[in-house]
Amino acid sequence: MTSNGERIAVVGVGYVGATTAACMAELGHDVGVFDIDPAKVDAIASGRAPIFEAGLDELVARHTTSRRLRASMDLNEIVSSAAFVFLCVPTPSGPDGSADLTYLEEASRMVGPLLMPGAVVINKSTVPVGSTQVVASQLNRDDVEVASNPEFLREGTAVRDFMAPDRVVIGSDRAEVATRVAALYESLGDIDFVHTDPASAELIKYASNAYLATRLSFINAVAEVCEALGGDISEVARGIGLDSRIGPEFLNPGPGWGGSCFPKDTRAMVAMADQAGFDFRFLRGVIESNEQQFELIAQRALEMAGVAPTDARIAVLGLAFKAGTDDVRNSPAVEIANRLVAAGATVTAHDPQSSAAVSGVVQFGSAINAAAHAHLLLVLTEWPEYSDLDPEALGAVMTNRAVLDTRDVIDARGFAAHGFAVRQVGRGLRTNPTT
Ligand code: UGA
Repeated sequence: MTSNGERIAVVGVGYVGATTAACMAELGHDVGVFDIDPAKVDAIASGRAPIFEAGLDELVARHTTSRRLRASMDLNEIVSSAAFVFLCVPTPSGPDGSADLTYLEEASRMVGPLLMPGAVVINKSTVPVGSTQVVASQLNRDDVEVASNPEFLREGTAVRDFMAPDRVVIGSDRAEVATRVAALYESLGDIDFVHTDPASAELIKYASNAYLATRLSFINAVAEVCEALGGDISEVARGIGLDSRIGPEFLNPGPGWGGSCFPKDTRAMVAMADQAGFDFRFLRGVIESNEQQFELIAQRALEMAGVAPTDARIAVLGLAFKAGTDDVRNSPAVEIANRLVAAGATVTAHDPQSSAAVSGVVQFGSAINAAAHAHLLLVLTEWPEYSDLDPEALGAVMTNRAVLDTRDVIDARGFAAHGFAVRQVGRGLRTNPTT
């Protein structure tokens, strides 16, 4: 432990926990992690990241060697000497869309008796308003503190997002506790802190994800208007993004939004508002609009294949919910592949990182093998390597020369020049190489 280092425990080492643990060690703290999954604990104990995430392996290796990071399945050993305990357990969607707090409650109950007096339990899991209180009551200790410290990490850039945050949000009714938690981030330098009450902190997390999802549903809808009226969505997005009140981020249209957070958190926010007596009709519309986008892309793909759905062979390129991750949870690519399979199409796929099984989809180790005999190439994840696809080689093995690129990643002119019918979201059909 360095001179400014605190003793920290991290309970749960999924994306959030593993990143928090490794980055807190990088900031000079002495970090112990616990998970109920032996595979995750073993990975960290042997110096490897338990998940695929850029830069994480290096950090875990560095700090298991520096001994600032250790992992154990003995919760007591990890928690009892810690001044700060981060709870990073999953909060999946329950049947009605609301966040299921079972893991959080259980973790709090287990941790409670082990805490040293004066310890601060910090909730990083995404939880509905009131959960800080739920944690406090499950801990059942009046000599410890509870604070909320939501995360804003993106998969694929989680380490970078942690080390250079736009803001760090800390929810606590006690200024002294908020100051102690903020001090953990001190060596990040000059960063913006939002010290607020626990309910506002919890809502900042949900409202951020709901707003970002709203922008995406909006831009996908504008892309459809462009298709119908003849505009080009990339020009429109650039034009509106230059307005400083709007900004350029999160305006790339696509096959719909997904991942382990937006779908779960938007549903949870609707459910939370509902339980409080407010019909969040607007956000329901955002979610419905995303479902509509999946359907629209699936239908367009079947149309472009040019044969009856049950005769169509469609090669999907990309299964991960976005590039830079092997995560297929709530992936738009999987949603759309499922719809194609349900329509009776034969679906093949390639993804450079994910090998997770998708029912009814035969996966190949290369794009060209997936494309053999296909009527259509359907690009669903923006993997950079798809910008180097060779249209002539692909066209030679396909039955039809047609590509639907939902991520604006392929060399559209190159494909068109090789006789492909090319379609991109918000751009309409391109068949002439000069357009
Ligand atoms: C999201 C948030 O961006 C993080 O701030 C938050 O911490 C995280 O959820 C969480 O709650 O844990 P993440 O799920 O990793 O992060 O993914 P994003 O990069 O936000 O992408 C979400 C979806 O939107 C993906 O399907 C992506 O392809 C899509 N997207 C994103 C677009 O279609 N267009 C864009 O311009 C940006």
